[in-house]
Amino acid sequence: MMERSLTMELVRVTEAAALASARWMGRGVKDEADDAATTAMRTVFDTVPMIGTVVIGEGEMDEAPMLYIGEKLGTGDGPRVDVAVDPLEGTDIVAQGTWNALSVIAIADEGTLLHAPDMYMDKIAVGPEAVGMIDINAPVIDNLKAVAKAKNKDIEDVVATVLDRPRHEKLIREIREAGARIKLIPNGDVAAAINTAFDDTGVDILLGSGGAPEGVIAAAALKCLGGEIQGKLMPSNDEEIARCKSMGIADLNKVFYMDDFCSGDDCIFAATGVTDGELLKGVQFKGWKATTQSVVMRAKSGTVRFIDGQHSLKKKPNYVVK
Ligand code: FBP
Repeated sequence: MMERSLTMELVRVTEAAALASARWMGRGVKDEADDAATTAMRTVFDTVPMIGTVVIGEGEMDEAPMLYIGEKLGTGDGPRVDVAVDPLEGTDIVAQGTWNALSVIAIADEGTLLHAPDMYMDKIAVGPEAVGMIDINAPVIDNLKAVAKAKNKDIEDVVATVLDRPRHEKLIREIREAGARIKLIPNGDVAAAINTAFDDTGVDILLGSGGAPEGVIAAAALKCLGGEIQGKLMPSNDEEIARCKSMGIADLNKVFYMDDFCSGDDCIFAATGVTDGELLKGVQFKGWKATTQSVVMRAKSGTVRFIDGQHSLKKKPNYVVK
């Protein structure tokens, strides 16, 4: 059973990762930004009272030095939880200084988060108003019409977010032929999925494929927000097919629904903006001071909090006071 006080603890973790990686904003290098986020996140996790196991992380144990799948996190005291992390969601975004890079964490009771393999997943995500109206197997136009109806909009005013990739050429054509608009994004489909749940971001639906691990993280956020995501794994070679089978996914056309991503009745999601986005401002530095903006939410209570942080880099040179 997760304690509500963990919400604030998790914000401390995403803040630290965002602060560390934002130092690399606009410097044209991405691995450094990712490493900085990962190290800071790992350090602050040591102070969080929980017994956590990474289920979505930086990679398998042999390929990631920190926050690898299976790694234990937390003080070793407290609730047993599954942990999904993306210390820096949008490594290229930070390198290029553009929009919507986030540092994110989701936790849920042990055994309740999907252990998604690192491969592409086709996704469709919407906010609360359109829950129950979408179907990943339906034609694109039907989903757009359903969202328009649910949100009491003309289809011409429906905005779909799509990652700008050659693999989405057909999808993009279909959305435009249906009359809807597209916000093409260079990266960052976690933010894009979350944004569908907030009216003032101006986006209604996320369509197209991105990382499967990112799908789980987005699902945790949407569970807290009362939204919905559906996904289908897209193994692209024999090795990835074997990976799916070894996870017990016999039917490769299986649709993952909210309860598959996040099967418990509770989860907590926290994100801090690294670069500016529609929902969160990114980190800003001025002398010894840095500011952050975060959102933290809990499925059980449905509470969504936005938290502005001001950080003294004199007192927290490594982004944490232990
Ligand atoms: P990274 O932070 O790992 O670079 O992920 C960014 C991202 O845009 C995700 O938001 C998205 O799910 C995935 O990459 C899409 O993958 P690809 O760039 O291969 O299309």
